[in-house]
Amino acid sequence: MKRPLKTLERVISKAGLGSRTEARSWIGAGRVSVNRRVIQDPDHWIDMERDKVLFDGKPLVKKEHVYLMLYKPKGYLTTYKDPENRPTVYDLLRDVGTFVVPVGRLDLDTSGLLLLTNDTQFAERIMNPDFHVAKRYLVKANRLLSDEELARLRDGLELDDGPTRPATVKRVRDSEKYTHFEITITEGRNRQVRRMVEALGAMVLKLVRVAIGPLGIGTLEVGKWRYLEPAECARLGPQRTFVRKASTRLT
Ligand code: URA
Repeated sequence: MKRPLKTLERVISKAGLGSRTEARSWIGAGRVSVNRRVIQDPDHWIDMERDKVLFDGKPLVKKEHVYLMLYKPKGYLTTYKDPENRPTVYDLLRDVGTFVVPVGRLDLDTSGLLLLTNDTQFAERIMNPDFHVAKRYLVKANRLLSDEELARLRDGLELDDGPTRPATVKRVRDSEKYTHFEITITEGRNRQVRRMVEALGAMVLKLVRVAIGPLGIGTLEVGKWRYLEPAECARLGPQRTFVRKASTRLT
């Protein structure tokens, strides 16, 4: 039988200590040993059953799975580090204590529900368009939109990377100058909602993600995060393990 092999970089980053880039730099800096020998090559193969990997002289502990939701404010990037030093969602997650990755992205100017986890399989499944996980957004357009225009969003329209799938679209209200509507899509293409509205010759003034699948943003305040309850997690689909965090923590 084949032995389970992983690169050293993957072993370190999967242990929940930090990002893959950080794992590479720690390995390069000589902080990792394999079978008592310092290994500085991040691509070194590790036999998961036989090799003993130590980080700063300590064994790696089996990672707990953590699932949380953040109310991302406008003006925060969904990336770990920004070369221009703009605020990122990680600035709001300082007390999480383990490295989590965002489940998909929200644009800089989009606010709302962002899921984060250290369970990469879970993240990949939610992001995979084949699973048709619905994402619901509230949109303010820069002008009034007609019923025909909302129907075009609903039926699917042509974008430069192909036609959009049918969506659920509901007019919420019209003010004197602007239409507010709700749209639910099952894809997660780059800037998709903005590009759909632009295809009508209009623009998005405000975009808030209010739900992912059965999970709504609820009463979470802007900029705060909390752990998902096991039942919420289960509603999103099967996880390999779920580690309950008893209390709701706010940043
Ligand atoms: N659609 C967009 O245009 N932007 C987002 O951030 C999410 C969906």
